[in-house]
Amino acid sequence: MDYLFERLKNIVLISEKAKAYTSIPAENGFTVIESVDLRKDIQSLIDTVENVHITAAIFLCFGEYMELNMLLNVLSFKDISYQFIVFGSDDEVKGLGFENLLEISEFRRQPISESEFSFIVRKTFAGVNELYINRSLQEGYFSKLIDTKKDQEDLINIGRALSTEKDSDKLLRLILYLSKRITGADAGSIYLVEHDSKGRKRLRFKHSHTFSWDVPLEEKLLPLNKKTIAGYVAVTGQVLNISDAYNLPPDAPYSFNSSIDKKNNYLSRSMLVVPMRNHVDEIIGVIQLINSKESIEKKNNGEYEAFTIRLEKPEDFKRHVVTFNKKYNSLMEAVAGQAAIAIENNRMITQIKNQFEEFVKASVSAIESRDPATSGHSFRVADICKAMAFAVNEENEGYLKDFHFTETQIKELELAALLHDFGKVYIDLSVFKKSKKLYPKDFENLCLRLNYLYRFLELQYSSREAELMKSMNNGEETARIFTELASEKNQMLTRIVEIRDRLCQMNEPAVVDEDLEETLNRISAEMDEIECLTVEGGRMCIISQADLLNLSIRRGSLNPIERSEIESHVMHTYCFVSKIPWPPEYKNIPEIALRHHEKIDGTGYPDGLSGRESTMLQSRIMAIADIYDALVAGDRPYKKAVPMDRVLEILKEEADRGVLDGDLVDLFVRRKIYQKIDRDSFKKYVQENVG
Ligand SMILES: [Fe+2]
Ligand SMILES: [Fe+2]
Repeated sequence: MDYLFERLKNIVLISEKAKAYTSIPAENGFTVIESVDLRKDIQSLIDTVENVHITAAIFLCFGEYMELNMLLNVLSFKDISYQFIVFGSDDEVKGLGFENLLEISEFRRQPISESEFSFIVRKTFAGVNELYINRSLQEGYFSKLIDTKKDQEDLINIGRALSTEKDSDKLLRLILYLSKRITGADAGSIYLVEHDSKGRKRLRFKHSHTFSWDVPLEEKLLPLNKKTIAGYVAVTGQVLNISDAYNLPPDAPYSFNSSIDKKNNYLSRSMLVVPMRNHVDEIIGVIQLINSKESIEKKNNGEYEAFTIRLEKPEDFKRHVVTFNKKYNSLMEAVAGQAAIAIENNRMITQIKNQFEEFVKASVSAIESRDPATSGHSFRVADICKAMAFAVNEENEGYLKDFHFTETQIKELELAALLHDFGKVYIDLSVFKKSKKLYPKDFENLCLRLNYLYRFLELQYSSREAELMKSMNNGEETARIFTELASEKNQMLTRIVEIRDRLCQMNEPAVVDEDLEETLNRISAEMDEIECLTVEGGRMCIISQADLLNLSIRRGSLNPIERSEIESHVMHTYCFVSKIPWPPEYKNIPEIALRHHEKIDGTGYPDGLSGRESTMLQSRIMAIADIYDALVAGDRPYKKAVPMDRVLEILKEEADRGVLDGDLVDLFVRRKIYQKIDRDSFKKYVQENVG
């Protein structure tokens, strides 16, 4: 409070008219101005004094008071505080209002003596000074309150801004930007504590920005000790507010490395270095702010010095750089605390995401390892989908130019692709491995039954021959019957061998044009006509209904039941993937995966949706990736690898027939997406992660 008293300048002003009523002692101890023109003198007093506040005791007559009061009312409290001593008659002061009475310390009808003058002046100054001090304190408290409120708002806003930023690099940039804005710093750096391979702590100079000098610094590592300024703060957790980095206390354990300054013609003068402490009070890094350019005037105008004043010449540093205000020590500690929590949250989210992604990859690779024929398929589909999404982002033509995948959406697509066939885990592996129309066991059984039939017929003919021999005499007739029987036997057995060979051909999954069913029905009827008995004497069925169903498959190796079982994998995938509590940004994963077998012409599954708009772009991309990988794969049970030229032709044909999205197929072919896929990535992944 004393500093406020020191600023006061007490002045007695006496108007020409009031002088007639006043006796001024020769030794009064005050500055007394006898004024001919009060207005002029007051104004010139205000204009000439600097860094002081005028408190005035103004002696004047009633008429002068009324005039002067109007002038003083328009002057700011900042300039002058005053009280009046008015000379007048009872009638004149009768009508004065409350506000007038507050500023009149004395009213006199008669002239005053020297001693009265001294008493009145001292009493007036006592009152005016008190009033000024109280007002100043009140104003100070009020501005502090406003300042604190602003700091609190800044902190809340910083907390909010930091908590919403999910990108680690952007987060560090944001922390530095906000720190500089608050403190008016010209430059700043962020250091993060990390561990080396042996678990030792070290400090990484992670991010830096200087407003006056637009060269980003490269990351570098520092040992974690008290020898550097940042290291000292990181080790001790103590805030350092340094006025001049080139003039550190001689006993300071740390020193300032001026090499970067020299290299860049910069002068790091004032510094504020604060530790970033996480929720368990562990120091995870340091924020170092350099060269405060804070000017109260600018701050009051709402400007951010950090982004208005450029420090270029040596005199700029002299003129603009000030020591960081002490209040920022604690404020920046609070900001650094928020920053530390945001950085930790970000690290944790990234860690959880990475762990989850690794879990997905490990699960998918475990499932795919069941069947070497398709292993790596989901990984390759994911790679193709990602490459396609990037290509879509660069597309300037066609309907695809209106699409843009964010990084998160590309990650969503990648996860959906990795999981797109996850539902196959619910399906019997033998169905996937079925390379012929009949399972090997079933075909073997069929052949065994045919062999049995062969031997059975052979035996039957032999016993008929023996019976014939017994019952008939030798002669021409007997010889003829024998010959006929031998010929019949020969025909029959040859036919069985033919049928077996024919069925063997029909078991192949190749696409056939002939009337399969008619041939099978004929063979089946032939078999039915032959009575073949089991050991127990029952009738043996050579070709079962199940065999007929499978052998009548016209394309591939799967019968309708098996095909629908395989097709059900998309529903299994959907049910499984839907149960995962995805974060909102990955909410489309189940739908994208569900639709990877839908076709634009409505021939796909599970719902036979037709039209481009009925499925998401991501699903249409996946449909192409899925077909491409199946065609290129050389080890599928039912087909050989198709040469690349033919693969691209097939994709184009499918697009022309309206099965696949033509724009996407065109993009796939034109941008040679297939060349960007590392077909061995899965093997590498398994080697690195599974061993
Ligand atoms: Fe699939
Ligand atoms: Fe697939």
